[in-house]
Amino acid sequence: MKKNVAVVFGGTGLTGSMLLKQIINDHFFEKIIVITRKKIATKNLKITNKVIDFSKEKEIQDCIIKDAVVFSCIGTTQSQVKGNKKRYKEIDFDITLNIAKASKKMNADKFLFISSGGANSKSSNFYLKLKGEIEEAVINIKNNSLFIIKPSLLIGRRKNRRFLEEIGQLVMPIFSFILPSTIKAIKAKTVAKAMINISKSNLSGKNIIENSDLFNWSKS
Ligand SMILES: NC(=O)c1ccc[n+]([C@@H]2O[C@H](COP(=O)([O-])OP(=O)(O)OC[C@H]3O[C@@H](n4cnc5c(N)ncnc54)[C@H](OP(=O)(O)O)[C@@H]3O)[C@@H](O)[C@H]2O)c1
Repeated sequence: MKKNVAVVFGGTGLTGSMLLKQIINDHFFEKIIVITRKKIATKNLKITNKVIDFSKEKEIQDCIIKDAVVFSCIGTTQSQVKGNKKRYKEIDFDITLNIAKASKKMNADKFLFISSGGANSKSSNFYLKLKGEIEEAVINIKNNSLFIIKPSLLIGRRKNRRFLEEIGQLVMPIFSFILPSTIKAIKAKTVAKAMINISKSNLSGKNIIENSDLFNWSKS
C-alpha cells in the first residue's frame, strides 16, 4: 500500500521546524524525509535525515521519491550572506528551483514552497523582486500540483535574533486589529498548519496561497 511521505527542505528554520513538529504528530504522514546541510538530532522513527550539498541538483533529486509531498521552507537573509546578492540568489532562487525541478522529475504528488507576500519580479526591492522571480521560474516548471505560500511578516521565536524582524513582530500585533488579513503578521506555526492542511487537499495545478488564505487554511 502507498505510504504518505513528506519530504521537508528547510526543516531547521523557524517555519520549517514548526512544520516538522506538526507533521511528526500527524498520523496522515507515515514517513518524513528531512533534508539538511548538517545532521539533525532526532530519535523519531518516522524521520529519515539526509545530509546533502544543496548546490548539487542531483543530490536534491535523490532525496525525492514518487508520490511524496515536498515542502520547502528554505530561505536566507542579507545578514546571513553578508550582503552578497549573488549568494542570496544561489540559496533562495537556485535551491528552490532545483527542488521544483526534482519534484517534477521524480513525480512527487505535491510541491509547496514559501515565497512572500508582495513578491513581484518588477519590484525595485531586492527581496520582493527575487521572490517574484522565483515564483515565475517555479511556475514555468509546471509541477502537477504547485502551492506558492505567500505569508506576511512571520511571528515566532528564533534561535538567532533578527533585530528588524523583532521590531516588526512587536509593532505589527499592536495594529493587527486594523490591518487587513492580506498583510497582517502571521505566526510561523499558523503557516505550517496551513501548509499541512493544503498538502492533504485534493487541489492540483498551480495554486497561489496569499496571507489571508493561510489564516483560513490553518483552520480547515
Ligand atoms: N521572516 C519573515 O518574516 C518572512 C516573511 C515572508 C516570507 N518569508 C520566507 O519564508 C521562508 C521561511 O522563512 P523562515 O524565517 O522560517 O526561515 P529561516 O528560519 O531563516 O530558515 C531558513 C531555512 O533555510 C535553510 N537554509 C538557509 N541557507 C541554506 C543553504 N545555503 N543550504 C541549505 N539550506 C539553507 C536553513 O538551514 P540551516 O538551519 O542549515 O541554516 C533553514 O532551515 C523563507 O523563504 C523566507 O524568505 C519570511
